[in-house]
Amino acid sequence: MRQNVLDCDTVLLDDENSALVIIDQTKLPGCIEMLSLTGLEETWEAIRLLKVRGAPAIGVAAAIGVYLAVKGAETGSMEEFKKEFQRAKGYLASSRPTALNLFWALDRMEAVVLHNMEQKVYQVKALLRQEALRIRQEDIEVCRSIGEHGLALVKPGSGLLTHCNAGKLAAIKYGTATAPMYLGMERGYGFRIYVDETRPLLQGARLTAFELQEAGMDVTLICDNMAGMVMKKGLVDAVFVGCDRVASNGDTANKIGTSVVAAVAKYYGIPFYVCAPTATIDMSLQSGEEIPIEERGADEITEMWYEKRMAPEGVKAYNPCFDVTDHGLIDGIITEFGVARAPYKESLGRIFDSKTRNQ
Ligand code: MRU
Repeated sequence: MRQNVLDCDTVLLDDENSALVIIDQTKLPGCIEMLSLTGLEETWEAIRLLKVRGAPAIGVAAAIGVYLAVKGAETGSMEEFKKEFQRAKGYLASSRPTALNLFWALDRMEAVVLHNMEQKVYQVKALLRQEALRIRQEDIEVCRSIGEHGLALVKPGSGLLTHCNAGKLAAIKYGTATAPMYLGMERGYGFRIYVDETRPLLQGARLTAFELQEAGMDVTLICDNMAGMVMKKGLVDAVFVGCDRVASNGDTANKIGTSVVAAVAKYYGIPFYVCAPTATIDMSLQSGEEIPIEERGADEITEMWYEKRMAPEGVKAYNPCFDVTDHGLIDGIITEFGVARAPYKESLGRIFDSKTRNQ
């Protein structure tokens, strides 16, 4: 029988083989292939080439990857061990620039080393393993909470639209933008879900449509340029998207095209919600202007998904991977601690205060 993608782990630690196990997302939906990565370069490449992708999944993969990179370190000196750890950390941090979760997870792992310099190397290795698994487990709980807060904002039978893949495949379970949909499914909400295909890499078509359909939801795939039409027809009651980095003023970087969806939703008076684990919120940035935006190769636009090239040889192509949605277009930022509303500097500040109190 064909395997259901929801039964496969997006990112997993295989202790026995000292491997990071991921679903190769570049092969979906045609083929479910698990990859077992044992080298740091392989992990870097898997993140860079989007074999593992989506902000939370990248963070978990980096945490496990950096642990595995130093698991076999032969030194007995904590100073040497720290240097080796920091080399691996710096290397993984160079794989992609936008998703804060990558840096957040690596910083959490580094804090374990820095706060335990008086311990033996083997003890710190065990603590690193524990921290990587904790980051993974926390993602499940965080996404579920986001799902509860998101679900409270919509009624049964609603039409929901999402862009890119902020689903289980971008996280460990539930996803962020899809968490209200999964919880709604569990509770018989009967949502109608519209999924933007998400040019140029089709994360919506290949991943979101796939996983939500596998979950048994009522899913309709649309091209990116159809969102306005679907909204105008009254088929969409709310938009839920994920994010890669949120600035302290609420400006949000997410997959390219998100800001267009937000602007059109505003025009039609449809609430637009960003689902953001606090691990994705960068309180050090004043606005979205400071968010580093990844640019990828032109071939992703001109030829990657076509049997033959679809653009003239030599044509210039611009391929920013993310755009920034202005906070003024966002009706709420749904975190694991509740929904932040404008003015975001204050509301996100309060959310970080309660996070500190909970730690
Ligand atoms: O380039 P990708 O596929 O990693 O981009 C992913 C997105 O933009 C997601 O919406 C975001 O990472 C949130 S995932 C919960």
